[in-house]
Formats: sequence, C-alpha cells, structure tokens
Amino acid sequence: MDVIEAIQTRKSIRGFKPDPVPKDVLKEIISIASRAPSALNSQPWECTVVAGEVLEKIRRGNIEEFTSGVGPHPEIVWHDRLVGDYRKRQVSLGIQLFQLMGIAREDREKKIEWTKLGFRFFDAPAAIILYIDESMRDVSQFDIGTLTQTIALAAVNYGLGTCIQGQGLMYPEVIRKYTGIPETKRLSINLAIGYPDWDFPANKVQSEREPLEITTTWCGL
Ligand SMILES: Cc1cc2nc3c(=O)[nH]c(=O)nc-3n(C[C@H](O)[C@H](O)[C@H](O)COP(=O)(O)O)c2cc1C
Repeated sequence: MDVIEAIQTRKSIRGFKPDPVPKDVLKEIISIASRAPSALNSQPWECTVVAGEVLEKIRRGNIEEFTSGVGPHPEIVWHDRLVGDYRKRQVSLGIQLFQLMGIAREDREKKIEWTKLGFRFFDAPAAIILYIDESMRDVSQFDIGTLTQTIALAAVNYGLGTCIQGQGLMYPEVIRKYTGIPETKRLSINLAIGYPDWDFPANKVQSEREPLEITTTWCGL
C-alpha cells in the first residue's frame, strides 16, 4: 500500500471485530510510526498499549465514573463549545453518525449509550495511550499529533482500523489506576485499534472536507 492510498483509506473506525491484534503487529506499527517528526527531534511521546483484562478494567472504570455523574476532566485543553463553521462541521458529522446508528435527536437513552461506547474505546480489542512528561511544554502536543496520525496510517497497512480519541482519557485516574502511568505524565490522546467491523453502521460514515477554495490561499503561484 502506498502512502496516498493509506491517507485516502484511513477513516475513524467506531466498531471492531473482537479478534485480538497480535502484539508483534502493534509493536511493528508503533516502531514504524516512531519515524514521525518531532520538534528538535525531542520525541516527547510515551506510549502504553492496553488490551485484555487491563482494558476491560479501564472500560468498566470509565463507565462507573460517567454513570455516577463525575464530569470528564482530561489533562489537555479541549474545546468547550465550537462555534460558527467549526460547529457546523461538528453537527454535520454528528447527524451522519446518529442517522446511521438509528439515534433520533430526542432519544436521550440512545445518546447516552453512544457516549458510553466511546468511554469503552468502542469495544476495540486494544488501545494505544499517548502521553508526555509534564516537564515538556504544550508545544509538544504537536509532536504527539504527528505520531498519532502516523500510527493511524501505518495501521491501515495491516488491515487495522483506528479511532483517535480524546474521550478515552477523560477520567485520568482510571487510566493511572490500571496502567501505572505516573502523575508526572500528562495524558494526551488515545487510539482505539482493531480489525474493523465493516457491518457496524457508524463505520460507513465518510466525513466531509472543505475544498481548497475555503482553506487555502495561494501567493506567488
Ligand atoms: C484530537 C482528536 C480527538 C478525537 N476525539 C474523538 C473522540 O473522542 N471520539 C470520536 O468518536 N472521534 C474522535 N476523533 C475523530 C474525529 O471525529 C474524526 O477524525 C473526524 O470526524 C474526521 O473523520 P475521519 O477520521 O473518519 O476522517 C478525534 C480526532 C482527533 C484528531
């Protein structure tokens, strides 16, 4: 698979087959993806891969926090509320997802179930948790971004799907309890990873992109 095909094929996967991902495959993906660029070649990323019983405990822990009404408290800054065109794009994605999943606008119960699925890492057989040392500045989150996308692209080559997720790390104490990631690390992002279940309705979403006329200005050419 060439790089263009991988970029064009990658999409967020939110429903997985239960088949485990072999550790060797995960190792190869992360090792290859570590060729991602980073500022000053600082390679600030650190990674914990979770699967099996540990991932089950994290899923249960996240759901317990969520259902007992604890507000999500991620360790990096997320958007409070999108506005304008950004909000329009968010809503457009949400409409597509909910239509495919058969979730009506007013159906609170189903919406809660969907939120829970996110806290369960979309029931993926594995998740990759990325974090940086607290001594690193916020700018290092860019480096986490280059690694994250490179992992997602490399995964495609192995027939795997990913969903880059902020949601999985919204209860940091749950992650720390079961992985031992110390308090000195800031949890950045996770990827749910596994073999896509192509019959899962949400996997049929093709998210939209703005044309270059909207996003790109040309100067001198
Ligand atoms: C930083 C980041 C955080 C994300 N967090 C979530 C998340 O918590 N839940 C989710 O379902 N998708 C999440 N996504 C996936 C985006 O919704 C998705 O990338 C976007 O809608 C474009 O769709 P595509 O990945 O299928 O191209 C996240 C993506 C990024 C880059």
